[in-house]
Amino acid sequence: MISDIQSEILKLKKEKGVTIFAHTYQSHDITEIADVVGDSFLLSRKAAEDKNPVAVVCGVHFMAETVKMLSPEKKVILANGSAGCPMAEQFTADEILAMKKQYDDCAVVSYINTTAEIKTVSDVCVTSSSALEICKKIDKKNILFIPDCNLGGYVSKNIPDKNFILINGGCPVHSAIEEKEVITAKKLHPNALFLVHPECKPEVVKYADYIGSTSGIIDFAKKSDKKEFIIGTENSVLAHLQFECPDKTFYPLSKNLICPDMKATTIIDLLNAVKGTGGTEITLSPDVMQKAVICINEMLRLEK
Ligand code: 13P
Ligand code: SF4
Repeated sequence: MISDIQSEILKLKKEKGVTIFAHTYQSHDITEIADVVGDSFLLSRKAAEDKNPVAVVCGVHFMAETVKMLSPEKKVILANGSAGCPMAEQFTADEILAMKKQYDDCAVVSYINTTAEIKTVSDVCVTSSSALEICKKIDKKNILFIPDCNLGGYVSKNIPDKNFILINGGCPVHSAIEEKEVITAKKLHPNALFLVHPECKPEVVKYADYIGSTSGIIDFAKKSDKKEFIIGTENSVLAHLQFECPDKTFYPLSKNLICPDMKATTIIDLLNAVKGTGGTEITLSPDVMQKAVICINEMLRLEK
């Protein structure tokens, strides 16, 4: 039974000094027993504070890399080593540097969904929940926001006095959602509030009653006195919400809001990673680690 596997994981993690970090897109059997569950912002914050010698990350590669950079002395294991965020690898560091060269007084702001290599050429990192707040604090005239043009576009609309340079990257899952899908969902559920992740296209986001990160969407739905919600992010969020708020009803914006990489990790992967027989240990060269952590530390400083 799943509960037997969960009990075994809980026993092993105590014995071996393991902290389990799970992104909110993970399945319920994993989030139920993880020590930290949240959006990229919360995972990075908690990783910086965590004291256990081993971290097992249930999420995608850049999340485990972030944990490693914040705690280089830790053994960091990605529970399923094949899970990567396609957005993170859309550009190389050289391409970003070439773009930056074209502007004076320019800060490279990189979404945390990027590789360590890209972070080495970034001035500050942001997550979907901290992007707006951090970009407001940047004193440069030009902001080269990479790689998600939807998130960057959303932030830029809210900070009209800065010049945002956007590039053509983004999440293949969220950016595939079309305006007509929102229109259909709203027609089917006229009383529902529409909560959406800023990785969706502007023609989708414009219908939102709330725009925010995965944790932001969950908090909003839990606290709201409304009873029906259309969820515009990965469908696992909908499953968690329906479990936690049985008196409310949640509808998917689209059946296609499924991230195959976030779905790659299973409870058996987690068991093997905690046991020490599975998963992939994250290693980074000291040089990359030293340079890449600068923009993460800058993020932690500015989001205070
Ligand atoms: P969050 O910042 O909401 O965790 O988003 C991460 C992500 O991968 C969304 O697609
Ligand atoms: Fe990357 Fe999109 Fe999957 Fe998030 S949902 S991990 S941004 S591909």
